[in-house]
Amino acid sequence: MSIENTAKHPIPAGFEDALVNAADYERLYDESISDSEGFWAREGKRLDWIHPYSIVKNTDFTMGQVSIKWFEDGILNVAVNCIDRHLPTRANQTAIIFEPDDPTAPTRHITYAELSDRVNRFANVLLSQGVMRGDRVVIYMPMIPEAAYAMLACARIGAVHSVVFAGFSPDALANRINDSGAKLVITADTAPRGGRRTALKSNTDAALLHCSDRVRCLVVKHTGDQTTWIEGRDVDVLKLMSEVSPECPPRPMNAEDPLFILYTSGSTGKPKGVVHTSGGYLAYAAMTFKYVFDYRDGDVFWCTADVGWVTGHSYILYGPLANGATTVMFEGVPTWPDASRFWQVCEKHKVTQFYTAPTAIRALMGQGPEWVDKHDLTSLRILGTVGEPINPEAWVWYDKHVGKGRCPIVDTWWQTETGGHMITSLPGAIEAKPGSATLPFFGVKPEVLDAQTGEVLKGNPAEGVLCIADSWPGQMRTVWGDHERFMETYFQQYPGYYFTGDGCRRDEDGYYWITGRVDDVINVSGHRMGTAEVESALVAHEKVAEAAVVGYPHHLKGQGIYAYVTLMNGVDPSDELKRELETWVRTEIGPIAKPDLIQWAPGLPKTRSGKIMRRILRKIAENDYGALGDISTLSEPAVVDDLIENRMNRP
Ligand code: WTA
Repeated sequence: MSIENTAKHPIPAGFEDALVNAADYERLYDESISDSEGFWAREGKRLDWIHPYSIVKNTDFTMGQVSIKWFEDGILNVAVNCIDRHLPTRANQTAIIFEPDDPTAPTRHITYAELSDRVNRFANVLLSQGVMRGDRVVIYMPMIPEAAYAMLACARIGAVHSVVFAGFSPDALANRINDSGAKLVITADTAPRGGRRTALKSNTDAALLHCSDRVRCLVVKHTGDQTTWIEGRDVDVLKLMSEVSPECPPRPMNAEDPLFILYTSGSTGKPKGVVHTSGGYLAYAAMTFKYVFDYRDGDVFWCTADVGWVTGHSYILYGPLANGATTVMFEGVPTWPDASRFWQVCEKHKVTQFYTAPTAIRALMGQGPEWVDKHDLTSLRILGTVGEPINPEAWVWYDKHVGKGRCPIVDTWWQTETGGHMITSLPGAIEAKPGSATLPFFGVKPEVLDAQTGEVLKGNPAEGVLCIADSWPGQMRTVWGDHERFMETYFQQYPGYYFTGDGCRRDEDGYYWITGRVDDVINVSGHRMGTAEVESALVAHEKVAEAAVVGYPHHLKGQGIYAYVTLMNGVDPSDELKRELETWVRTEIGPIAKPDLIQWAPGLPKTRSGKIMRRILRKIAENDYGALGDISTLSEPAVVDDLIENRMNRP
């Protein structure tokens, strides 16, 4: 990524009356840091509380005793905040616009009154299946309104949802059902996407072979495709919903009661269950949504993420609905039936804020501007990006062809762990620089630390690792079932700080530029992937002796997956075997984990103590093998020559 262009891009005309202007930003930001308790005491009131909080903040980043609590004596219900409280004024306003995969199929407009009816019924179905407060429910669904009903129904009765992205394999699903100890999994028959169908129910059947017999399976008959049916275990949700009462009293929940678990990749081991709570998370999602997207009544907000990721949780569902907004749920993909689909949907629903990932912008940019130009995009007011650094070329294209130079672009840096936006521009307050996430959001105190010494780098410019010095309400509270792992992952390396895992540079103007992960996590098309996960999938194959996986720059995906594979003695390498391993990883984890490049490695570079030198593998994968640095500590330096000689990523 080139970061030479540090010129500020002026805020387009018409944003003088934005909710936050430059002076407001400075004043509110200062207050949020100097009087954090007072600031959040006020901000927490954007939610409706059954019993108001008297304690605002109680947080400790000290290694060994990390504890994070916000609004801890407050009582509320998340579903009430997203639905019931809007009914007196918005019953007939659209809450969710559902745009199906097939552009010729009918769009659905679900009003707040209808949403209330569906969620209450869904909640009663869950109760009828024995789901109780605190129980975990796994949701493995297409991008359909029933996924939203399921999440909100859990919130209504105090169950903890864990949404698993529909692109994950049965094995990955089973691991998440087992780790969370879920009582129930909710799925659909099949999921149409880009004209093809994923067999979610049969994936769930396969997953449940590895789970307790007691786990029940609720099925939404979405496409009507044929599936197997196990009497006594499988339940037809839509049928039951039509039979139960449309009223389900909301369960009063403590602010710190978990709302959801979302599994995400780290540098080691299995994905970890990130835990978010009811009060702090919702307050933070609601507030960031409002300010970052300058949300006004009547807006139609579209976030193109999947509800299986945190972006979908915070900015398709919870943030918009907590504000009484109209949110678009899109079942399809940007390039099917053709590369104009996004823009067609923007035109059709008069979308005002459009929020997507740089990888989608790059893919559409490659198809040429004519796909955009033929659509009327005058309804658009604000554009956003998330998930990875945006390269300035893509930023400029987005600004010119989609925003026509009239729409501010908010580049939002955040993480599954942070619950909501952390570093981002604000449409009427902060001038953008293409490729920079710009400045911290209210209440966020970023610091750049020297990666080696841990010293806080004061003054600008500065380059190092990105840490956050104090807590914010949307912060994750723990790793499900493993608080020790939570502390070790985020608070051990730089004592007293939350460590993000990202590298960053702060420029002369104090703007933050995220330079990418500094750990063994890679970012493929805006999806987080642990290299360790792909490695353990590869070595689980009978012909593989050893594997090392690294990321390399990929023109569309941001990063691609590069796998070095050492085969078992006597196994011959072949293109066929490569395809077999690709398919293997797809079934072990899911299509997003499929290696882009596989190199047969007779040996891997290791230190004398047997540790794989990933730095060297990364350099070779990046085609930067001229500067390998010191390799004298390797046990067999000759393997490096072979790896360079047979490298896959040739320019
Ligand atoms: C990266 C997605 C640069 C970063 C919300 C982070 C970004 C990881 C940006 C979290 C951005 C996210 N600019 N990098 N605007 N947004 N990232 O948990 O490396 O799926 O640590 O959350 O994505 O990915 P996650």
